[in-house]
Amino acid sequence: MGAFMGLPAIDQSEALHQLYEAFPYPRVVAGLQDFKAGKRQPIWNPKTSFSVFFPEQAPREELDILIAGCGTNLVPVFGAFMPRARIVGVDISAASLQISAEQCAAHGIDNVEHLQLPLEQIGSLGEDFDFVCCTGVLHHLADPVAGLRALGRVTRPNGAIMTMVYARYGRQGIYMLQELATKLGLSIDELSAAKVQKLLAFLPQGHPFRLVYPNVGTVISLEEVMDMVLNPRDQSYRVQDIRDLVQGAGLRFHRWLGNAPYRPEMSALGRAGLLDAADALDPWAQAAAAELAFGNLIKHSFVVTHPDRTPAAELFGGERILDAYPSISTHVRLEPSGTDLVVTNEGHPVRIETVAPIAEMSALLQACSGQRSVRELAAELGDGVVGAYRHLYHADALTLSTRPTRS
Ligand SMILES: C[S@@+](CC[C@H](N)C(=O)[O-])C[C@H]1O[C@@H](n2cnc3c(N)ncnc32)[C@H](O)[C@@H]1O
Repeated sequence: MGAFMGLPAIDQSEALHQLYEAFPYPRVVAGLQDFKAGKRQPIWNPKTSFSVFFPEQAPREELDILIAGCGTNLVPVFGAFMPRARIVGVDISAASLQISAEQCAAHGIDNVEHLQLPLEQIGSLGEDFDFVCCTGVLHHLADPVAGLRALGRVTRPNGAIMTMVYARYGRQGIYMLQELATKLGLSIDELSAAKVQKLLAFLPQGHPFRLVYPNVGTVISLEEVMDMVLNPRDQSYRVQDIRDLVQGAGLRFHRWLGNAPYRPEMSALGRAGLLDAADALDPWAQAAAAELAFGNLIKHSFVVTHPDRTPAAELFGGERILDAYPSISTHVRLEPSGTDLVVTNEGHPVRIETVAPIAEMSALLQACSGQRSVRELAAELGDGVVGAYRHLYHADALTLSTRPTRS
C-alpha cells in the first residue's frame, strides 16, 4: 500500500530506516511531569487498566515492559507513569532513541533502557517480558507475522502484547494520497514532505483524508506527513486480516481495545434492525461487519497472548459474565442530562453514549467497585442488571476481572 511499493523489500527497509532517522516520530510529548504525577495516563496501559490485559491475575505494577519500535515518546511516558515497572525500549532509529533517552534524563526517569535493535531480533537480548507494547510498527515491517512471532517469543506465558496496526477502510484517504505522491514523483525528503504538508491543508472537507484529519487548514507536522503519506512501507488491515496475523504468529487474540468498534449492536446495524443477521455470524465476522458499518476506524488496537491464555470473550461471554467482577473503566465521563445520566467512554475510537435515569445508572455504577461479582450484584439489584452490565462492558465503560480487584 505504501507510496514506494515499487522498491524491493531490502531498499524499502533502508528507506524506512532513513525516514525515521531523519524524521523521528512522533512529536515530543509535552507535560511528562503530568504522567509522573498520575494526572495524565496513556489511554491503554497495564497500570490503570491492568484487568484489560490480565483479567485473571492479581494487579501488580512491578512489570517488565518491552516497547518495541518505541519512537520518541513511549518510553518516557510509560517510564514516568509506571515508576515501579522496568521499561526496555528498542527501535531501529538512533535519532528517535536519542530523543527518547534525553527526555527520560531531563525528567529523572531512570527505570528505562534504550537499545538500537530491529524488533525481529529481540530474541538476541535473552530477556522476556510481562507486557509488550508495539503500536504503529508491525505494519511497517517487511514481514509483520515474523515480527509479531518474535515478540511472542519474548513474552512470558502469562504476559500480554498490546499492539496497533493501521485499518484499511478508514485510511483510504491516506492511501489515495500515497498513490498521488507516487504519480507526482515525490520522494522521501523534506522538500516533498513540505509540498504534501501544504496539499493536506487545502484538501476539501469531503476528501476521504478528512476522516483522519477533519480540520481543513490544520498544519500537519512534517514527521506526520512522512509517516502517513511518504512512508515507503505501510500495510493495512481489515478485521479478518488481524485474525490471520495473530494466528500466523502462533499466538492468540485476547481482545480489542476497546470493545465498542467491533460490536454490531453498537453500530448502525443495531438501529437499522439488522442485528439478527449479524448475530448469526461467527465472532470474527461480527467484528468485520461492525468495522464495515462504522466505516471510519483508522487503526486497530488489540491484545495478543500465548495460545494457552484464555481470551476475554471466553472468560466473560454469555452467562460467564455472572462470575466477573466489574469496575469502572478509565476515561469514563458521566454527565447529567435532565433526569438522565449519560455515560461516555472518552478517548476511545468509537464513543458510545449509554443513557439511563440518574438514580438507576448511579446505582449500577456505584456497585462496580471491583469487589463484587455480577452474580452478587444481580442478587441485590435484580436480574435486569446483568444485561445492563454486559452492555456497559461492550460500550467500554466497565472493565471485567475474574477475581476481586482493588478499585
Ligand atoms: C510510527 S512510529 C511509532 C512509534 C511508537 N511506537 C508510537 O506509537 O509512538 C514507528 C517506529 O517504528 C520504528 N521501527 C520501524 N521498523 C522497526 C523494526 N524493524 N524494529 C524496531 N523498530 C522499528 C521506527 O523507527 C519508528 O520509530
